[in-house]
Amino acid sequence: MANQELDPVAPPGLHLVSAFLAMEPADSLISLARACGGGSVTEKVQRFIWSYCISEASGKGYVPYVKNFLKKLIVEVESNHGDVLDELYEQYAYIMTSLKDDHLAEKNKRVCKYITFLFPDGTFDLPSCPKSRKLIVPLQCSLNMLEGDTGCSIWPSSLYLSEIILSFPEIFSNKSCFEVGSGVGLVGVCLAQAKAAKVILTDGDLSTLVNLRSNLELNQLSIETDFSENEDSNVVKCIHLPWESASESEVRGFMPEIVLGADVIYDPTCLPHLVRVLSILLSQKKSDSPTQKESCKGSIRDSEYGHDRVNDTNQGKILCANDLDRCHSNHNGIDACKEAPNTRSSEGPVAYIASVIRNIDTFNCFLALASQANLAITDITETFRPFNLLPYMQSYQRSNIRLFIVSCNT
Ligand SMILES: C[S@@+](CC[C@H](N)C(=O)[O-])C[C@H]1O[C@@H](n2cnc3c(N)ncnc32)[C@H](O)[C@@H]1O
Repeated sequence: MANQELDPVAPPGLHLVSAFLAMEPADSLISLARACGGGSVTEKVQRFIWSYCISEASGKGYVPYVKNFLKKLIVEVESNHGDVLDELYEQYAYIMTSLKDDHLAEKNKRVCKYITFLFPDGTFDLPSCPKSRKLIVPLQCSLNMLEGDTGCSIWPSSLYLSEIILSFPEIFSNKSCFEVGSGVGLVGVCLAQAKAAKVILTDGDLSTLVNLRSNLELNQLSIETDFSENEDSNVVKCIHLPWESASESEVRGFMPEIVLGADVIYDPTCLPHLVRVLSILLSQKKSDSPTQKESCKGSIRDSEYGHDRVNDTNQGKILCANDLDRCHSNHNGIDACKEAPNTRSSEGPVAYIASVIRNIDTFNCFLALASQANLAITDITETFRPFNLLPYMQSYQRSNIRLFIVSCNT
């Protein structure tokens, strides 16, 4: 590779540029830069970085991020006794003198990350843009992971769910899709790309919703907040839907064929509410058969998981602890049962839930609540693998993510 020309539209140059635009950690960029130079950051690689990352992306890059990358790059070259390009030294010096302290102090600062999905040659065409081998999704995010009740950052499960949608667009195209806890909106953008018939994005946090709407606009999607019918698949509905206060009739009104959720299983106090919402969404057949409606509804009702019970966190914990054994057996059960996915649109809606299991007790609590609500959960991680559309993203640990399909037991 050392003697070949680096190309910004083909690996490894494309990976380096994509990682820079996605604001990957500086160490990842350095390792991609080394790969471009056959093991070291040669002058040619530095020139490539200068042309395609620093100069060309100067309007896009967040200045403190560029500064940190330049610093690590200069240290990398110097410590290997290489010559640093003058342009890189000068740019670093310029940023050092022009960067104001208040710029660095803005913890809740929004930045724009560009997530580039790279489609391997010979695979499939993106429904929204046949023959295009890449999709770039700009997303405004916060540097503070906790801002907007965690909804202003990109979480790994949404990357995974997006890869699923873009790898299997036929599952989602012409389907009415509904997402819980949409955050920055990446999954919604991918659903629109897959030509879902309807995209309904929801979140319980108002500042997250404001950011979500900006992101939909950034991606040229029109936003509709009312419930009027619109056949244009570039129109996305964006709705404030806190799981705690969502009424059964409101949730029932959506009638999606596919429900999605990425990294929404993490707060034990919210789980009963999340499961209640899922249960209502999944208990409806397209024909809205009363028999099936009752089967889910019977086991998890508003009164059962009303505010009194759920706001009592102790009671929530007791519920988890008491149900742990059952959850373990459930968990083993779902691990053992690896089915191919089935959207089952003729039988009823299904949910695709992607999750990093950070706390096994919390996850087991989710399983127990789902079981009480008569929801069937199948782990399809091993049998339903998406293409690796983010090969440059070293910070994204796919192996930590599980994908579950959830449906209402009949
Ligand atoms: C960890 S973030 C994941 C965001 C996005 N799905 C992703 O993977 O990037 C959890 C999301 O769920 C939303 N959320 C948390 N609790 C909620 C609740 N009780 N009702 C509705 N949304 C909630 C948060 O606002 C946030 O957007």
